Amino acid sequence: MKTALITGATSGIGREIAVYLHSLGWRLILTGRNREMLCKMAKAFGSGTRTLSIDLSKPGAPQQVFAFCAGIQVDLLVNNAGFGVFGEFTETPLAQELELIDVNIRAVHILTKLFLRNMVKRDSGTILNVGSIAGFTSGPLLSGYYASKNYVVRLTTAIREELRRKGSNVKVAVLCPGPVDTNFNNRAGVTFSVKPANPRYVARYAVDCALDGKCIILPGLFVKIGWLGMQLCPETIAARFVYEFQKRKSKS
Ligand SMILES: NC(=O)c1ccc[n+]([C@@H]2O[C@H](COP(=O)([O-])OP(=O)(O)OC[C@H]3O[C@@H](n4cnc5c(N)ncnc54)[C@H](OP(=O)(O)O)[C@@H]3O)[C@@H](O)[C@H]2O)c1
Repeated sequence: MKTALITGATSGIGREIAVYLHSLGWRLILTGRNREMLCKMAKAFGSGTRTLSIDLSKPGAPQQVFAFCAGIQVDLLVNNAGFGVFGEFTETPLAQELELIDVNIRAVHILTKLFLRNMVKRDSGTILNVGSIAGFTSGPLLSGYYASKNYVVRLTTAIREELRRKGSNVKVAVLCPGPVDTNFNNRAGVTFSVKPANPRYVARYAVDCALDGKCIILPGLFVKIGWLGMQLCPETIAARFVYEFQKRKSKS
């Protein structure tokens, strides 16, 4: 039986990834801050499921997650936990943005490094980092969030090339969805400006593609078209479009 570790498994895309992997017969290690939801999920998935309630923005938290998995072969790591902070850069609270950097960047970086070392040693395993289509451009009104997802995309694709050069069998992938119907917008304090994707579809597509060895995972036709547009559009022009798109999400 294979084992997957999922961060941010208590809601949205992470929870759907857990449900899908469970249906495929995987053993699960689930993390998040919401202890009640973790207990509920462990009960639903059965006794093999392990849970760790932890805030990934706290110093040393990613290392604690790694230590929690000591002695267990993690075949799939899903770095999914993340959130956004909406607003003009001069207005958004610094403390929230530093937390964002700790969860969206720092924790992803540390967990990827620690688990990848073991995977490379045994020449097997998969890491699925949850980025975003936001990882291919700059994002006025969600500037720190877009920047964090750029980090996740660049880190993952760089590691992928290092592994390819080594002839390694370890797979690394980055999931880059557009808007998905989860708790993400509630937490960021915004509304959707376009119809969001179904998190179940995104989760299944992501897991299938990652296990299949795909690198950049773009779920849905609109996301693929958006990605292509970002490849062709000059950065400063793209930022103008993103500003207009994000402005429509504002609740005020
Ligand atoms: N929804 C979208 O439109 C969208 C689009 C592109 C990419 N994404 C990415 O998808 C990933 C999952 O987000 P989602 O859309 O599924 O949103 P969500 O429903 O809000 O889920 C976010 C998950 O991250 C966990 N998390 C947040 N802060 C945490 C912290 N400090 N420590 C530990 N865990 C934390 C949450 O768990 P607890 O609350 O239990 O801590 C929750 O399980 C994120 O990386 C997000 O950036 C989302």
